[in-house]
Amino acid sequence: MAADKQVETKGVVGWIDQRFPLTSTWKAHLSEYYAPKNFNFWYFFGSLALLVLVIQIVTGIFLVMNYKPDATLNAAGIPVAFASVEFIMREVPWGWLVRYMHSTGASAFFVVVYLHMFRGLIYGSYRKPRELVWIFGCLIFLCLMAEAFMGYLLPWGQMSYWGAQVIVNLFSAIPLIGPDLALFIRGDYVVGDATLNRFFAFHVIAVPLVLLGLVVAHIIALHEVGSNNPDGVEIKAKKDANGIPLDGIPFHPYYSVHDLIGVGVFLFIFSAVIFFAPEMGGYFLEYNNFIPADPLKTPPHIAPVWYFTPFYSMLRAITSNFLPVLWVFAAVLLGLLFIRSKSAKVKGIAVAVAVILALGFYFIDAKFWGVVVMGGAVVILVFLPWLDQSPVKSIRYRPGFHKTLIGIFVVAFLILGYLGIQPPTPLYEKVSQFCTLLYFAFFLAMPIWSQIGTFKQVPDRVTFTPH
Ligand code: HEM
Repeated sequence: MAADKQVETKGVVGWIDQRFPLTSTWKAHLSEYYAPKNFNFWYFFGSLALLVLVIQIVTGIFLVMNYKPDATLNAAGIPVAFASVEFIMREVPWGWLVRYMHSTGASAFFVVVYLHMFRGLIYGSYRKPRELVWIFGCLIFLCLMAEAFMGYLLPWGQMSYWGAQVIVNLFSAIPLIGPDLALFIRGDYVVGDATLNRFFAFHVIAVPLVLLGLVVAHIIALHEVGSNNPDGVEIKAKKDANGIPLDGIPFHPYYSVHDLIGVGVFLFIFSAVIFFAPEMGGYFLEYNNFIPADPLKTPPHIAPVWYFTPFYSMLRAITSNFLPVLWVFAAVLLGLLFIRSKSAKVKGIAVAVAVILALGFYFIDAKFWGVVVMGGAVVILVFLPWLDQSPVKSIRYRPGFHKTLIGIFVVAFLILGYLGIQPPTPLYEKVSQFCTLLYFAFFLAMPIWSQIGTFKQVPDRVTFTPH
């Protein structure tokens, strides 16, 4: 046995320790994992995301015991999948609770994860040395979207069916391979039983497995480099004689107990929604989804669930008459890159991209560019650690106008979210086009604006008043 391992020698724990790294893992990740002592409200959401993940997995297992992924019609002319969800709601003991916990859990997951990501944004938690923590986070976000999208098909209601139809059809906009790719994803010419079965397989096992693996990687990466904090000060830079960060406190018991407050408040709100407003006015469970899927009847207004709507708005914003504006926007940014870069290679790439975009916008349908913009809105997050060139991490020490820009970005994102639920009108289309440009300008111009302004002096140690 390795001499440096911290090992119990007596009792059951001693017996386990000689065969499995129980005590050393407990110490490394909990009782001797030193977290900054100045965590605030925003640091509740990581542990809450873990809690919601567990809720989703446990309730999911119980749902699968009675759910049937079958699109054929039963004797009453209702699709079996839809009827099995109704069976869970009406006949299975406590089935309604399990189902509402799972459907509310999906929305809660996104609330918690959006807030968790926002924390990363304001405190610069994605910056060196936490780039991988952030990248694993972005992959988790992508998986979460895939998981929610495929789960939404399973009740086989009108919105499940037509939402999937709209989104899968987007793939057919890809030049050359698009139509075959959409067929491959559906397994049929329309969304049908084959689609339901494969989405079920992905929703219950494939994506959750990847998600779990990514969450483990996310936390291992975080514990390797240590947590950031609201001051953006690296606590590992100042250690005592034993090598313990001066501003660090053991995660357990300090934050394990602290996080219980977050869990209590969260469960209070979560239960209130489940018991009093599980549909949340049609935002968590859409009214059209209480009608069985009917391939012959398209609902007049198809809108995704609220957590997808900002991205859905961006997709709808890209119309053919907006493409020239989009090109000018890209050309201005590429022009800035051209002017600021000293490398001939970078200048060449900027010109080439501008030309390729001009040709692409002219020859390829706007629907395809809508898909590119929607996907790009998520992919761009991955590059945040390198787009942000600010000399300080935390918003606390940044110039006031940085805060304003982050505020504008958040408002634009919320407006996009609101517009994605509304039926399209010419005015809404213009507003969503403008907000889409703001969203991308925030990121793409970040290498420039993040360096500008008067920064406050970052303290040597974290700021903390005992309470
Ligand atoms: C299932 C979803 C997720 C789970 C369970 C999860 C879990 C956690 C936990 C437990 C922590 C440590 C506690 C804390 O700092 O709040 C953490 C930190 C972090 N997470 Fe996540 N996370 C998830 C998704 C994401 C996403 C989508 C992103 C970003 C795209 C992200 C970015 C980060 C960053 C940057 C940190 C370090 C924050 C700091 O040290 O200031 N996470 N995560």
